[in-house]
This record gives sequence, structure tokens and C-alpha cells, in this order.
Amino acid sequence: MSPSDVDRLIDELTIEEKAALLSGSAPWESTPVERLGITSIWFADGPHGIRRETAPLVSLPATCFPTQSCLGATWDRDLVHRVGAALGREASAQDVAVLLGPGLTMKRTPLNGRNFENFSEDPRLTGELAVAYIRGVQSQGVGASLKPFALNNQETFRHWVSVEVDERTFREIYGAVTERVVRDAEPWTIMNSYNRVNGVFAAQDAWLLTTVLREEYGYAGTVISDWGAVHDRVAAVAAGTDLEMDFTPGREVSALAHAVRSGRLEQSVLDRSVRRVLELLARAASTERGIPLSREEIDAHHALAREAAAAGTVVLRNDGVLPLSPGSGTVAVVGRYAAEPRMQGGGSALVNPTRVETALEAFQAVAGSVAYAPGFSLTDSARDEALESEAAAAAAEADVAVVFLGQTDGTESEGYDRATIDVPDNQLRVLDAVTLTGTPTVVVLVNGSVLRVEPWHESVNGLVHGWFSGQAGGPGVVDVLFGAVNPSGRLSETMPVRLEDSPGFATFPGERGEVRYGEGVFIGYRWYDALDLTVSYPFGHGFSYTTFEYSDLAVEVIDTTTGAVTVAFTVTNTGRRAGAEVAQLYVGDTEATVRRPVRELRGFAKVYLEPGESSRVVLDLNNRDFAWYDVVDALWRRDGGTFVIEVGASSRDVRLSASIELPDDPRIPALTEDTDLGLALQGRHKFDPYDQDEAGRSDARHHAQPGTVDAVPWRALGGFRGQGSAAFG
Ligand code: BGC
Repeated sequence: MSPSDVDRLIDELTIEEKAALLSGSAPWESTPVERLGITSIWFADGPHGIRRETAPLVSLPATCFPTQSCLGATWDRDLVHRVGAALGREASAQDVAVLLGPGLTMKRTPLNGRNFENFSEDPRLTGELAVAYIRGVQSQGVGASLKPFALNNQETFRHWVSVEVDERTFREIYGAVTERVVRDAEPWTIMNSYNRVNGVFAAQDAWLLTTVLREEYGYAGTVISDWGAVHDRVAAVAAGTDLEMDFTPGREVSALAHAVRSGRLEQSVLDRSVRRVLELLARAASTERGIPLSREEIDAHHALAREAAAAGTVVLRNDGVLPLSPGSGTVAVVGRYAAEPRMQGGGSALVNPTRVETALEAFQAVAGSVAYAPGFSLTDSARDEALESEAAAAAAEADVAVVFLGQTDGTESEGYDRATIDVPDNQLRVLDAVTLTGTPTVVVLVNGSVLRVEPWHESVNGLVHGWFSGQAGGPGVVDVLFGAVNPSGRLSETMPVRLEDSPGFATFPGERGEVRYGEGVFIGYRWYDALDLTVSYPFGHGFSYTTFEYSDLAVEVIDTTTGAVTVAFTVTNTGRRAGAEVAQLYVGDTEATVRRPVRELRGFAKVYLEPGESSRVVLDLNNRDFAWYDVVDALWRRDGGTFVIEVGASSRDVRLSASIELPDDPRIPALTEDTDLGLALQGRHKFDPYDQDEAGRSDARHHAQPGTVDAVPWRALGGFRGQGSAAFG
């Protein structure tokens, strides 16, 4: 089947066949229509390896790459692109046409059980890495599926919780990722989410799926549902969900056909989704799949998994104990995770690895000698004094101790959230026993998301975040510990002093079916900076074994209308080792009319430098990098005034800064004065949760009629449609 067949097939398919085509025929397979030669395609999770199921919870072996949280910490577009291409190749080998990833969820709270499946707390970093991942996957003739759209930032109540989010926050933080990815990577599919958004199920939300995603972001691909996310099949098609996927698929196919026959759903609306599904099938048909991987490819992917694991490893603290010396001295390796790796989290992302190399094996290959002590049990959270003493004895005899700590298996998974960000107490007792020996100690954190390290991190000589780093994560982290790889991982999520400091703490996970995103645009470092909170380790932080200097900042305003600004600076490797620095560019709007974050990441460059070498980094900004979303005028507004440009090694390690002045954007209507705002808003239908219909449902959006994608009165009345991104198109 080719794209030129699509029109003919739309003419030839019956309404029942069309309805069937819009649902899966099996959990992982689309519906074929044999009469017309339409074959099915296969889907598979994602995101950090292929989970091609052959029976429930049994899947074919595939390379288990580092999870997205580790990839996020690489800040490396090229590497993520290569991982994406390897994932695409493996999907293709297993005859998978669409890989269900990458995750684009923003890390609103450190407790989200699926944080390991996502890149970052920052939309720019998430968006750019997602673009690289998708381009990599799709370079192999396999489609990616950006997931989930939108606002599924917790697992608790995920199937029905209503995310109560204001529009500015949606536009600036959550939607911004999808917008970038749609524009720059054109994912074949986008998967919607289970939750409701301001009262409406995401899979049935015409504003989300059609007004924003299609009309404003310009998405032309296929929207698929999360598995079982559709509650009303007709409403979902009307809203813009093209293909319904489910673990028990096709339940409402006849209802869909009936809705068209009875006039409840316009035939053109059905055909719109049929066209998008046929286009997906045609895309998939254009590449040959099923060519098995060679032994060389399997080995190369394992090596790539190791490279990515090392690149995502973040050295948080180092008093000079790192790097360790290969080939000499004794290392006490403490902690079960060194021998029994936690390489990934649980749920639909669980990959059956092609092989696993442990950190312990890697230590044995590189260290002078190794003494291993498991330290604690993985099945029993109680203290085990015998294991503690054994660990202390091993440490006392060694030149250095490396202690692997993390939460236990099952704490980070799809389906539920974490209850705490603390390292289990029995493990901290082992750490105490080791540090008390006086032997220099390095801790490696093995976790999918951040952990609390206060106050104990002050007592260790080195601290490394190793994440869930996949099947080659063991040797990957050992490469960093011994300096075979100079660390260049940087935190893609802030490590707070206490869970209570984190954004969303007061509102997570919500109550009575709703979670309010009360922190607004202030998520991640935006929150800690706004409240001037001390953090354990800031966003963007990570040490290298060399040192970098920043100099010669030059900021040039090229065009005051488009906001084109060029930021150039020099990074020099002033140490004795070759290594890569992640130079970060932040912008702050000091005179904004609305409250804005102190700084927001607006660009970054990973620069590899030999000792003594310098590189001139040039990063471009435009209007959107200075703008905020004005919900009254429904457009992106760049206020005139002073903007601070900061360049540095983390969100709290600013090395160079400058100010620029920009005038108001002349193309944008002047801001309504506060004094006139009442008048300007008169007659507008503002969202009111207490405006209930006769069925007791709140919000006018509930009155939307299936079959009419325009039925979003409160949005439409706001003069919203079509203007959202026009000014920056
Ligand atoms: C998850 C998706 C996943 C799908 C298929 C859902 O429950 O939320 O991320 O792709 O299952 O396994």
C-alpha cells in the first residue's frame, strides 16, 4: 500500500470497515482489511528498548539502553540520536512499525513513578532530546510515538484524575515540548494520555487534540490512544483520536459505525481519522522490516548502551578521590546493586535485555583487586548487622570503598508513584559503617529519579548519580569512576534538600479526583530559584575531571522585531584531561508584566575539548525565548524591557552574564492596562468550575457535542483559535 492508494481506499471501505480500522485488532496490532489488501502493523513499547510481546509479559530480547532519565543527563543530542537509531533498527528487526516512545512528561514532582521514562524537568532540554530521539528512530523507517499527550505527570489516579492547569502553564511548560517536537521531528504518531485535562479526558479533548495539536502546532500525523484511554469512542474520534488501542481492543467499533449511520458523527470526521490511519500504514509499508540483527549489530548496540550510560553518569561531588587508579590498590565494592543491577524501572517499559554486565564484573576487570560485600538485603528492609560488619571489614582493608545505594525494586514503576525520595535506612546504616572506617568512600546512586542525599552526602568523598542505566550500566559507571570516560553528565532534574521543598508538594497527588498545578510555570529549578531555596544539587550540575573556563561573552541583537539575538562565548579546557562541557544558556525577564521564572534554559551546547583547547559557542535566540503566554489576548507576548542573558555550568553556576534591551514587539497589540482589564474581559466566558450543567458536570467544555470539533465555547469565546502561535509562526 502506498500514499497514492489512500483516496481510493477511503472510497472503497465500508463504514464498518472504517470503524474497525480505527481500533487495534489485538493489543499490539492494527486491524487489517484483507478484502482491500490493507495489512496490519505492530506496535511495541518503548521507550529505552523494544518490548515486543510474544505472550503476556514475555518479550523478545532487545538491548536495554539506559532509561530516558539517564539519557536526559547526557545533554547530548548526537548520542540520543544514535540511541534512537539503534532503537529504530531493533524495532525494525522485530517487525515493529511504531515504537511507543519517547516519553515527554515533565518532572513536576520527584515522586512520579514514571520519571525514569522521561528526560527532564525542563521543556527545552526535554524537547531537544526528544527531537533527536525521534529523528533517530524514524531514520530507520520506524515511527516514534511521543507520549503521553498531555499532562500525565503522576501515576496516582492516572486513569481519571483531572489535571487542573492554567493555560499559560500549559503553553509555556507542558505544551511547549510537544510543539517543538511536532515542528522539528514530525513524529509518525502521538499517544494521548489517560488523565483528564480541566475535566475532559485527554483522548476526548477536541481543544487539546485538534485546536492546539493540529491547528496551532501543525501536527499532520496520527493520534493514537493510550491503551484503554478511550471512554467514549465517538467522542474520541470527534475530538481527534484517530486510532484507539487497548488491551481488549475494538469494544466499540459497532457504536462508531452506528454513530455515523445515525448522523451523530459526521462521515467526514470519521474519514479524517481513517485517512490518518491509512497514511500511517502507508508510511510503514514504505520500508522493509524483519531483517534480523547481525551479531555485530547486537554487540555494537551493547557498546552504545555502555557509552550512553557513561555519558549520563553525573559526578555530583568529588573531593579529588575520583578518578580511581586502574590496576592498583584494593577497592571494596559494597551494595547488592553492584552485582544485581537495577537497570530499569517497572511497567510497560520493562525490556528483556540481550545480556547484562554488572559493575562488579567491570571492577574486577579494571581494579587492582576487589573485595565485594553485598551490605544489605534487597528483599528485607530491616538492618542486617552481619552484612554491615562484613561491609565495614571489607572497607577497612581497602584503599577506597565504592558503595551502591538506591531504592528497592518496585519503588519506581508505571502504575504507582514513589512514597519517598529517601535512600532506605538499612542502606544508610551500611554507608555509616563504611565511612566510619575512615577509608575514602564514593557513593553511586542507582535510581530512576532523584534521591535525597541530605545530610549524609557531606560525609562521603565522592557522589555519583548512576540512574537506571541499562544492560551495560555497570561497566558504564565504572568507566567514569576510573576515568576511562571523563564525566560529562549533568543533572536534568534538581536534587532538593527535602521532598517538602519540591514544586507540587502541596498539591500532589490531588484530592477528590483533581490535581491542581498550583505551582504554575514554576516547576523544577524555576521553583527553587523563585523561592530562593537551597538545593542539594542544582539543575545542570555535574563535575568533570578537567576544568573549563568561560570567557568573552558577546550578545548581539540582530532584529528587534523577531527577537533574533546571537549569544557567543568561549569555553576553554583549562585542565589536563580531554573532556566535554555542557554550556548552558539561560534567559531572565527582569521587567515582565507577569511573574516569570528568574531564569529559563534557552539553549545548550555540549563541547568536547582537548586540554588547552578553546571553542567559540554561538547560540541563537528568538522571540519565543523571551516571550510569555498572554491568556487574555491569546498570544505569545514579548514584553519590551531588559532581559538578562546568563551562560554557565549549571542553573546556579552562572559564569558570564549580560543584559539586553528589547522594545515591545510592534506586531503585538499593546498590553491591556490592569485598569481596563475588567472592561476588556466583559462578555468573555471565563472557565468556571462551578458553572455546572444539568448533569452536575462542571465547565462548559462538557457541553461539547461529539462530531463538532469546534464545540469548545469558553476557548472559542476567548478569541483564541488560530492566534496562539501566529505572531511567531
Ligand atoms: C502505558 C503506555 C504504554 C501502553 C502499552 C500504557 O498503560 O501508559 O505508556 O505504551 O500501556 O503498553
